[in-house]
Amino acid sequence: ELGYFTYDPGFMSTASCSSAITYIDGDEGVLMYRGYPIEQLAEHSTYLETCYLLFYGELPTSEQLSNFSRIIKRHSMLHEAIQRFYGGFRHDAHPMAIMVGVVGALSAFYHDNTDVHNPRHREISAHRLISKMPTIAAWSYKYAMGQPFQYPDNNLGYTENFLKMMYAVPTEEYRPNATFVRALDLILILHADHEQNASTSTVRLSGSSEANPFAAVSAGIASLWGPLHGGANEKVISMLEEIVASGNDVNHYVRRAKDKDDPFRLMGFGHRVYKNYDPRAKIIRTMCHELLAEMGAENQPLFEVALELERIATEDEYFVERKLYPNVDFYSGIILRAMGIPLNMFTVIFALARTVGWITHWNEMINDPESRIGRPRQLYTGSAPREYRPIENR
Ligand code: SDX
Repeated sequence: ELGYFTYDPGFMSTASCSSAITYIDGDEGVLMYRGYPIEQLAEHSTYLETCYLLFYGELPTSEQLSNFSRIIKRHSMLHEAIQRFYGGFRHDAHPMAIMVGVVGALSAFYHDNTDVHNPRHREISAHRLISKMPTIAAWSYKYAMGQPFQYPDNNLGYTENFLKMMYAVPTEEYRPNATFVRALDLILILHADHEQNASTSTVRLSGSSEANPFAAVSAGIASLWGPLHGGANEKVISMLEEIVASGNDVNHYVRRAKDKDDPFRLMGFGHRVYKNYDPRAKIIRTMCHELLAEMGAENQPLFEVALELERIATEDEYFVERKLYPNVDFYSGIILRAMGIPLNMFTVIFALARTVGWITHWNEMINDPESRIGRPRQLYTGSAPREYRPIENR
C-alpha cells in the first residue's frame, strides 16, 4: 500500500523512486497531476495555476495564485550580460543548443540562494526557472531570426507574455491572438510533467549530487532534445510533410515502420509507459479539430494525413500487438505549426512547459531526508582479470 495506490511486488522492484507529484497508469491511459485528472486540468486550469499545483501540491486560492503570478512576473527579466551569450552562438544554432547553454549559465548569474538544503532557496530557484524560461526561449528564437530581443511585459499573462516576446517587433504594434494564447497555454499544461521520463530522471540524477538546480535543468533540456523523447514533436511534422509530399502514400510509410530492415519509425507513436492511447494525444487531437476549423485549411493536409495514419496504424496487427498508439508528440506539432511557431522551436516549447515538472521533482528529491546520490549499478560483461603486457609484446 503506497498512499492511494497499491503496487504488485514485481512493479515495486522496477521502480527507481517514489513520488507524490504525477501518476500514470499506462495500461488504462490515465494521467494525473497531484491527483487531478489531466482532462480536468486541461478544461479548467491555466499553465500558471498548474505550475502552482505541481510545485506546492494543492490548487491555489485566488489570493495564492495572484501572489504567485506577481512573484513569477518579478523574476521574468534576465541579467543583461546573459544577452551576450546568445551572440556567441552561430546564427543557425538550433534553439535547443542555445537553451542548454544559457540555462546552464544561469548558475553563473544567480548564485545567491543556492543552498539546496534551504527550502526557501529551492523555492526561489523554482520561481526563477519558471519565470525566466519564456524569456530565454523567446530570445533563442529572436536570435535565430536576427530580430531584436523583446523584454517581458509584466502587464500580460504568462503565456501571452511569451508569445509577445516571440513575435513582437519594434516597428509594429503587437496584436495578441487570444485563440493562440489559449491553445499554447493548454499545450503547456499537457507537457508540464510526466513522472520519471528520461529528462526528468536526468534532472533527478544530476541534481542528486547536490549540483546547482540550473545545471541540473540544463541536463534535462539536453536529454529532452533527443528524437526519441521531446525531439519527436519536430520529427513528426517532418514525417507528415514527407508523406504529404509523397502524395499521401500513408500505407507505404506504415509498411516501412514495420520493416525491421528499415530504420524508419512512426514518430509520435509508441511509449515506454502508455500501452494505450496517451490521454494528452486525445486532448490535442480535439484541439486540432477546433483550432484548424477556426483558422482555415492551410494546415489541414498535415492533420488529415495524421488522422489517416492513426486510423491505419491502430487497426494494423503490428501496432496493435505492440500496443503502439499516438503519444503526446503526434498531434502537438500540428497545433504549434498552425500558430506559426517554427519547427526548431517545438522542443523548446516542450522544455519551457516541462521546466515546472523538472524543478518540482528536483525539489521533492532534495527535500526527502532519505534522498541519496543516484548511483545506477550494472551487470559487468567485460574481460576476466588478466596481466598487463608491455607494448613490445603485443
Ligand atoms: C515522449 O517517457 C515519457 O513519459 C516521455 C514523454 C514525456 O511526456 O516525457 O511522454 C514524451 O518522449 C513521448 C515519446 C516520443 N517519441 C517518439 O514518438 C519516437 C517514436 N517512438 C519510439 O521510438 C518508441 O515508441 C519509444 C522510444 C517512444 C518507446 O520505446 P520502447 O517502449 O522502448 O519501445 P521499443 O523500442 O521497445 O519498441 C517495442 C516494439 C519494437 O518492435 P519489436 O522489437 O518488438 O519487433 O515496438 C516497435 C519496436 O520496433 N516500435 C515501433 C515504434 N515504437 C516502437 N515501430 C514503429 N514505429 C514506432 N514509433
